[in-house]
Amino acid sequence: MFQLDGKVALVTGASGGLGAEIARGLCWAGAHVILQGRNLGRLTALGETLTTLGGSAAVAAVDLRADDAASTLLAHHGAVDILVNNAGQRDRRAMQMIDRASVRDLLETNLVAPFDLARRFSAGMQPGGRIINISSIAGQIARSGDAAYTMSKGGLEALTRALAAELGPAQITVNAVAPGYFATEANAAMIADPAIAEHLQRRTSLGRWGRPEEIVGAVLFFASPAASYVTGQVLAVDGGYLAHF
Ligand SMILES: NC(=O)c1ccc[n+]([C@@H]2O[C@H](COP(=O)([O-])OP(=O)(O)OC[C@H]3O[C@@H](n4cnc5c(N)ncnc54)[C@H](OP(=O)(O)O)[C@@H]3O)[C@@H](O)[C@H]2O)c1
Repeated sequence: MFQLDGKVALVTGASGGLGAEIARGLCWAGAHVILQGRNLGRLTALGETLTTLGGSAAVAAVDLRADDAASTLLAHHGAVDILVNNAGQRDRRAMQMIDRASVRDLLETNLVAPFDLARRFSAGMQPGGRIINISSIAGQIARSGDAAYTMSKGGLEALTRALAAELGPAQITVNAVAPGYFATEANAAMIADPAIAEHLQRRTSLGRWGRPEEIVGAVLFFASPAASYVTGQVLAVDGGYLAHF
């Protein structure tokens, strides 16, 4: 039920962090993975690791903020069965400190690109196709000083439901995974901060950071035949952050 043999998966933001783990997971489940990001060196290194170990991977270095990003990816790599919109940008500045151009820039990566990739790739998807958006617990709850990122993730979850409705008749499912606090490279400064460790100890049911590989199960579920009748859903992978009071 969780095998992906013969499937082609595009994972955006696969040059590190959660995207690299998601790509590894889908690859070991049998999919050919297209690793998208901007850092060609890191993408190539991951691609070589996967192929050396017997997997199948290709590399696509594209900036998703470019208007032609989705059409370029489609032209070079062809149709896919699974699209994982994982690439994400952060801008943790208070609303008075962030200008309109920076908000637009963030939304290009976090919201406009997932829409455009879904639009382009869903047109060639076979029935059984999958779109999985990587949101955040910020899609459902908010804290002060993170308005741009928070609105992008709220929008991504709304987009998930909208696309599920629109693509359902084509038997394409659209779901989202909402990570909590994961110990990725991008969070290095926060990981080193004992106050955050204390916060997670108190605020999550599991009392700790998520390990990057712990994101894979939820994505693999949505990507696999096991989730064939699940669409429009958001699954939090957050150690209990959203549920814990
Ligand atoms: N880590 C967490 O705790 C956490 C929590 C909640 C949600 N998330 C979400 O999970 C996803 C992955 O997070 P992460 O922590 O793994 O992030 P990360 O380590 O910063 O990785 C982000 C990835 O996105 C790519 N990317 C960013 N902007 C891009 C653009 N304009 N065009 C193409 N690629 C772009 C980066 O590519 P290059 O480096 O090659 O440029 C990189 O591969 C994001 O959507 C994030 O919002 C993460």
